[in-house]
Parts: sequence; structure tokens; C-alpha cells
Amino acid sequence: MTTKRKILVTSALPYANGSIHLGHLVEYIQTDIWARFQQLQGHSCYYVCADDAHGTPIMLRARQDGIEPEQLIAAMQKEHEADFADFLVDFDNYYSTHSEENRELASEIYLKLREDGHIATRTISQSYDPEAEMFLPDRFIKGTCPKCGAEDQYGDNCEVCGATYAPTELINPVSAISGATPIEKDSEQYFFKLSDFADMLQQWMRAGHVQPEIANKLDEWFEEGLQDWDISRNAPYWGFEIPGAPGKFFYVWMDAPIGYMASFKNLCDREGISFDDYWHSEANTELYHFIGKDIARFHTLFWPAVLHGAGFRKPTAVYCHGFLTVNGQKMSKSRGTFIKARTYLDNLKPEYLRYYYAAKLSSGVDDIDLNLEDFMQRVNSDLVGKVVNIASRCAGFINKRFDNRLSAELPDAALYNELVNAGESIAAEYENREYGKAVREIMALADKANVYIDNNKPWVLIKQEGKEAEVQAICTQGINLFRVLMTYLKPILPQTALKSEAFLNNELQWHTLSEPLVAHSINKFKPLMIRIDKEQIEAMVEQSTEHLEQNEEPAPASGPLADDPIASQIQFDEFAKTDLRVAKIIKAEHVDGADKLLQLTLDIGGETRMVFAGIKSAYEPEMLEGRLTVMVANLAPRKMKFGVSEGMVLAAGPGGRDLFILSPDDGAQPGMRIK
Ligand code: MSP
Ligand code: ZN
Repeated sequence: MTTKRKILVTSALPYANGSIHLGHLVEYIQTDIWARFQQLQGHSCYYVCADDAHGTPIMLRARQDGIEPEQLIAAMQKEHEADFADFLVDFDNYYSTHSEENRELASEIYLKLREDGHIATRTISQSYDPEAEMFLPDRFIKGTCPKCGAEDQYGDNCEVCGATYAPTELINPVSAISGATPIEKDSEQYFFKLSDFADMLQQWMRAGHVQPEIANKLDEWFEEGLQDWDISRNAPYWGFEIPGAPGKFFYVWMDAPIGYMASFKNLCDREGISFDDYWHSEANTELYHFIGKDIARFHTLFWPAVLHGAGFRKPTAVYCHGFLTVNGQKMSKSRGTFIKARTYLDNLKPEYLRYYYAAKLSSGVDDIDLNLEDFMQRVNSDLVGKVVNIASRCAGFINKRFDNRLSAELPDAALYNELVNAGESIAAEYENREYGKAVREIMALADKANVYIDNNKPWVLIKQEGKEAEVQAICTQGINLFRVLMTYLKPILPQTALKSEAFLNNELQWHTLSEPLVAHSINKFKPLMIRIDKEQIEAMVEQSTEHLEQNEEPAPASGPLADDPIASQIQFDEFAKTDLRVAKIIKAEHVDGADKLLQLTLDIGGETRMVFAGIKSAYEPEMLEGRLTVMVANLAPRKMKFGVSEGMVLAAGPGGRDLFILSPDDGAQPGMRIK
């Protein structure tokens, strides 16, 4: 075994003014799997996090709710901690940036930077709300976009045309807090001189501490030039007052990353760990930050510079992941895909999502998509159908026929060793955050285990005289293969791993797999995981859907385009492949048992076609007979519940009674091609 590493990992600190959603969870699940993997390898790995509890949005939200910010952040922290615990995210410490440790560390760092000349003060002019008597962050100023004229846009960028600008450029700006027109007001601010660290940062980023995509981004930022960073905000502000600067507070992004240190400090003091080992020297310890790509600049420019300037170590690496989309699109409240952690948990088991994210994650910064249909299928077929199935196919015989005893030898040691030997590459994939590859490799091994059982058919043998020992050996083999697979999945499925340990009467450990479980007593098998039911997903989406107000445009009622205002584009040659023909409806009939379908018999010029069309809500069959419509004549026949459909008629409209079968002009003849 290699030497024991001493590792500290963090995930970004979630803001204390909103609930955890499935987007956030990409990161916490990714980090948790990595931390659990390191521990399973026998390394020491602490995983800390905290709520990011400062800043204007939190101050205003508390005001709005009529409570103190302290009350708000305490309640949010409680909610966040419960969400994470229920997703099996196992922090060694979860803290808050609004803590004494953080206040002390933030002052210490600031004072050291100031002493060494890395802080500058300058008077700048900023937007100020004369009614609310406070300076306004860009997000709290709204007005008309100076580029495209769109109204009601934020002070930093336009959501309509994508332009970015200063809030002073907005036309007719108003404060989102009071509605007053902001004025420009001078005040003195404190700046961190980032350019003092340009050389150090160039070197650091070239030494492999960031992913290639992020290094490219950093090159762009270097080219733009490193600007001084404003780390101060005027009162009233919810945060820490800057030492020696009454009425000035640290900007939330100054003390937020220091919150990583503060959370760890709190853990160190409680458990007697050496804080300095992890933060003062890079010699014997490793430090990793897992973050989303939106906050890369803070973690790969400002943060290493601040740490370096204040005499602390820099991160071993910053690992950036992409953003979550659901069903291929940005999470959306109207589509029910902006799903909160709690809403998910009310309907589904946490390990399903952990597995699905793992299967999708790589070391890159690409966005990952949660396709709900694929999610269900993948979990059901891989976890329930393949992995858990191995144990359930073998356990019953051992429990009932062999008094829980595994046989003394494995009948197929070569297959067992093949699985054990794969551990090295699977470990490398976990280490490199290529979880998708690890999962694929594990599932290929699970397929082999199932083939073994299929070929040896213990359920057939058990009925034959004198085959008991053979059945026991085959099931012992199956259970041993299951043990290896479950060990590899343990970082992803900690709960199922725990249940498996109880069943196997054995702790799942990576480095003891070379010894199979033989001549060993197991325990009674209890179901380890159940299938996802489509209804659970539908309920979750329904509970996440914010229904439109009466006076808003209704969404299309149904159909493949229903949740997509502009369906993704196709190329002309794809369109050209469709053979559109004028068709005469010679017969239209109800279909027994179908409440949306009509059965149409169509004449396309000497040839008749039978087509099912979902237009019953809009047409009585009698109305259609004798009329002309347009059909896709070369659509491959599709077998439906009620029969084979030999093509498709074109209909358009929002649905319900408003569904139109287009009838060409009187001059049209059945069979005419439409160009
Ligand atoms: N408070 C800051 C982080 C401070 S770290 C010193 C913050 N908070 S956040 O709540 O907005 O986001 C927390 C983490 O979740 C970030 O790394 C962010 O990138 C990630 N995600 C938030 N929404 C996400 C998706 N939709 N998809 C993937 N990750 C996302 O930023
Ligand atoms: Zn615009």
C-alpha cells in the first residue's frame, strides 16, 4: 500500500438565502464521492463546508422577512445541513462564514496584506439609493438596457440582448429596494492589488493546479490585465467590519473562501488536528477545492493570491465542474425542473441521484444533463437489474439451503481475480474524477457476474439430486463477485454498501478484496434497493412546477413540443427526407379504449393507409370523412397499442379543441406530393 496521504477537500459554500437544489448537488455529490473514495483507499481525508452567510441579498431578505440576519442564517443552515445529510453528503464539519474563527482569520489575512503593501485605498463613485440610504450592488439597480432598450434589466447585464455594462449606463435607473432614482456618491474603498501577484499566478496555473479549460480562461484574464479588486463595502452591510476602517465591511467574496479555513479551524480545535499542517505548508498535506465554473475566477485568481500574500499555502488543485441542465434545458420553475433537494427526497432515494450524477461526471467542465427518463432507466437497469440482482439471485439458496454458510472455495477463481484486478484502473478513474468511466467499468464487470450466474443456473441445479455442493459453490462465487462490485460502488452508494456489509457480515474494504469470502457465514438477505417508479418522478416534477398565472400565455397542452417553445432546429436535408402527400380521409372511426385517438383510412392516390391520429379532442369522425389532409407518407410504420400506424397526418395547434388538420385547396388530388 502507498503512503497515507493527508487531504483536505472543500465544496463551495452555498449562499444562506436559498434552498439547495439539484444543481448544487452535482458539486456536493461529486466532492463527497471523492472524499469517501480517498478514505476507502486508506488515506486521511477531511471534507469541510459551511454556509456563505454574508452579503446584501441576505441582509435584505432578512429585512423583508422581518427577522434579524442571524435568525435567517441559522434557519437556512439547519435546512442545508438536513438536505446534505439526507443526500448522504458526509461533511466532517459544516459551519458558517458568520463565525468567530472566520472573523479572526479574515482580519489576520487582511492585516498581513495591508502590512505588506497589497491593499490600496481609493475614492470611487458608486450608485447610492438616497431613500434607503445605502449603496446599491449592481443587481439591485434596474432600468432600460442601453444597448437594446429592453426594460426592467439588471444593473450589470441585459437578459434580453446579453450586453454587459455599468449600472451608470442604464437608462432610467431605479433602485430595486425603494424605487428611488439612484444618485452617484463618492466614498473611499479598499482594494486588493491583484497585479502584485501576476507572476506568481502565471507560474501557479502552469504547474497543473487547474484544469486545461480553466488555464485557457486564466490566459484571457491575464490578457485583459489584472485589475485591483474592491474588497470593501459601505455600511449598512451584513458582514465583518474591516479592522481600522469604521463603517467599512469586507465584501462577501473576501471572507467567503476564508470560510473554508474557518470551518476547518473549528474542526481542528474540536478534534485536536493541526491546522498549520494543512494551511501553512504544502509539504505534507493536500488541499482541494471543488467548485462550479461560475466561480472559477474567485478561486483561481483572487484566492491563491490572497493566500500567498498572507503567507498561507495555495491549493493543490481547484476542480471545476459544469452546470446542471434538466432534460436538456436550463432548470425551469414553469417546467417543474427547478427541483429542490427536499422535493426530490420527498419522492426518491438519494442514491439514485448519486449514481446517475456519478455515471455522468468526468474531470472536465462540461455541463451535465439530468434526463429524467434516462435517469429512471439507468438506475433501474444498472443498480437494481444488474448489481443488486446478483446478490438476490444467490442469497436465498445460501440462507435457506446452506445455513448461511459460504463454501470453502471459489469455483471460478479466475473470474474473481479479474474483478479484483480491475480495482487498480477503477481507483485511478475515481482519483482523476472520471466517475463516468469508473461506473462503466464496474457495470461491465457486473454484466460478467450475471453471465456467470446465467450460465450456471443454480435454480435449475438445486432441483437435481446430489448437486447441493455445486449450488453452494456457484452462489458463493456470485456473492463474492457482488462483494467486489459493491466495494467499488461504496463511495457512490454508501447506504447500500452499509446494508451489504450487514448482509455479507464483512466490512467492504478495497485492499482486502484479494482475499475472497469463503467458509464464512453471511446474514439473511434483505432487499437492498427498489426500482424507481415513473409516478415518483412525475410527482416530483408536479410538486416543483410553478403554475402560470391566469393572465399569462398558456403552455401548449401536450405533445413533444409542449415544453419547448422553439423545438431544436433540423437541417434542410433532414426535412427534405420527408415525403409529404395530399391524402383523402375516406374513413374516420373511434378506437375502442383510446380517448385521444381516431383511426383514419387515407387514400394517397390509389394506395390506402391506416393511420392513428391523436385528434379526437378536436374532431368528430363524421366531420373528417371526405376531407383532404397532409400526411407524412414515408414514416416507418409504428406498432401502437391499437394496431400498426402507417404514416402520420399533420396537425397543428395548442391542443384540445384547437387542433387543425390542414386541408389543401380544392384543386388538390390525393397522392399529390407537397414541395
Ligand atoms: N456562495 C458562493 C460560493 C462561495 S465559495 C467560497 C456560491 N454559492 S451558490 O449557492 O450560488 O453555489 C454553490 C455551488 O453550487 C457553486 O460551486 C456553484 O457553481 C454550484 N451550483 C449552483 N448551481 C448549479 C447548477 N445549476 N449546476 C451545477 N452547479 C451549480 O456560489
Ligand atoms: Zn439589452
